[in-house]
Amino acid sequence: MPITNGDAMFGGAPLLSKQQILPHQKAIEVLKEYESRDGLNIDQLLDSNKNGALTYNDFLVLPGYIGFAASDVTLDSPVTKRISLKTPLLSSPMDTVTEDNMAIHLALLGGLGVIHHNCSADDQADMVRKVKRYENGFISDPVCLSPKTTVAEAVALRDQLGFGGFPVTEDGQLRSKLIGIVTNRDIQFHDNLEEPVSEVMSKDLVTAPAGTTLAEANDVLRQSKKGKLPIVDSNGNLVSLLSRTDLMKNHNYPLASKLPHSKQLIAAAAIGTRPDDKTRLQKLVDAGLDVVILDSSQGNSLYQVGMVKYIKETYPGLDVIAGNVVTREQAATLIAAGADGLRIGMGSGSACITQEVMAVGRPQATAVRAVASFAARFGVPCIADGGIQNVGHIVKGLAMGASTVMMGGLLAGTTESPGLSFVRDGKLVKAYRGMGSIDAMEDKKAGAGAANSKASNAGTARYFSEGDRLLVAQGVSGSVLDRGSVTKFVPYLIAGVQHSMQDIGVKSLVALREGVNDGTVRFELRTVSAQAEGNVHGLHSYDKKLYS
Ligand code: IMP
Repeated sequence: MPITNGDAMFGGAPLLSKQQILPHQKAIEVLKEYESRDGLNIDQLLDSNKNGALTYNDFLVLPGYIGFAASDVTLDSPVTKRISLKTPLLSSPMDTVTEDNMAIHLALLGGLGVIHHNCSADDQADMVRKVKRYENGFISDPVCLSPKTTVAEAVALRDQLGFGGFPVTEDGQLRSKLIGIVTNRDIQFHDNLEEPVSEVMSKDLVTAPAGTTLAEANDVLRQSKKGKLPIVDSNGNLVSLLSRTDLMKNHNYPLASKLPHSKQLIAAAAIGTRPDDKTRLQKLVDAGLDVVILDSSQGNSLYQVGMVKYIKETYPGLDVIAGNVVTREQAATLIAAGADGLRIGMGSGSACITQEVMAVGRPQATAVRAVASFAARFGVPCIADGGIQNVGHIVKGLAMGASTVMMGGLLAGTTESPGLSFVRDGKLVKAYRGMGSIDAMEDKKAGAGAANSKASNAGTARYFSEGDRLLVAQGVSGSVLDRGSVTKFVPYLIAGVQHSMQDIGVKSLVALREGVNDGTVRFELRTVSAQAEGNVHGLHSYDKKLYS
């Protein structure tokens, strides 16, 4: 007879006589006598009649069996029907989170940064272009001199920028014919400061052709014993530069997000659903865009359905992620329209007051499961967007069925987000604001975002407020702690997720999803006191250093 978890025997040995005690070797076999595994399956956990709707903090995943190293855990996961990432992490299209620098670095690490649209279409297209043109190790926008630049100007530039070694091109711009290179040695002791650099520059150039790989270029640089290696196209125009001083710093990025058969990083950007956004999208596509996200707090709308259909018809090669949604019904509309991916979350963002002000939204864990389990039937991957405060939340979002997670606040404090750090209350912080905050909707600068009129502003569009005379905020504007570079922080997140998956006993995200669906990955609800127990408690003081 199967033993239920509530059976008296479950209480343990003290009730048993000596004869009844079983040999250790039988433990695995005896386990089979139990009707179900320990803990709850996903449906029991998310039974909202019993448990209400859950957020990430409301539950835990139970540990499984560790039979492999954490470093063996793979995190490959799709972000759209056609595109997969090696790191299931995305950065939010927010003007204090993702511009080209974040998009480049996150893509190098295997994730995807979605470039915000709280700026002109040209500025956004420029950022997409920078992501597509970026090649690891190559300086894609080197400072160039014209032959007429004076030695004095070159010296001043060197002092201002802290490095010498400038390529000289016919018109002083990138993509113009390379005619020489001015090194520190050429200008250091030169007496006639008014002389043009064409008189002192070195014309004996070692160059490499466009398309040269980083490894090949590094070899040429090593052999040439020069400080800089200009990369030129077939017409001799300068396209980028490799610097000896960077040679040692050049990391290899084996996880980098690239399409098969492409050397370029994947570029993603957000747009709205107004007629203007079609013009914007054309510019982004011309710049090389691979994935577009329709950025709306409530994606189940006439506008978005129309936009998804328009994009699928006009740009069949472009993947479109629709959203945001939190219910099956919302998801169905967008899937039927042709969405290649969905973004889930309403009111869970750290700078968000939507649930409070609008009384609409859904606790994130429940929302992710409801939408992702439905979307999975159509092979549509989902992004769990918002409310990610730590590694555990990432794992929980993925366990609920999301293929990837999107972060705003957690990445806003990194070096690669727009804007500079500043000191507030004795702590180093960076600005972070909701796109539905009054500041973002009026586009008051927060260290990012180009000047915009309210009428064409992404913040107002995201919240359908373009025509409103009075703006109703759905977000706040504030700051987050400085976190250093994503090149350290994201590897920490990746390693953390790998260790968590090792604890759960699953070696890949596919195995995690299978385990959740077949009931072998188990959960437990957390009471308020369980949550307190699960956090640091009872210490007089402590330092919370997350990684080193
Ligand atoms: P976070 O990672 O918890 O900071 O949440 C980021 C997510 O919050 C974004 O990707 C958006 O979906 C959402 N969001 C951004 N701005 C606002 C806002 O002003 N109100 C509500 N949600 C927002």
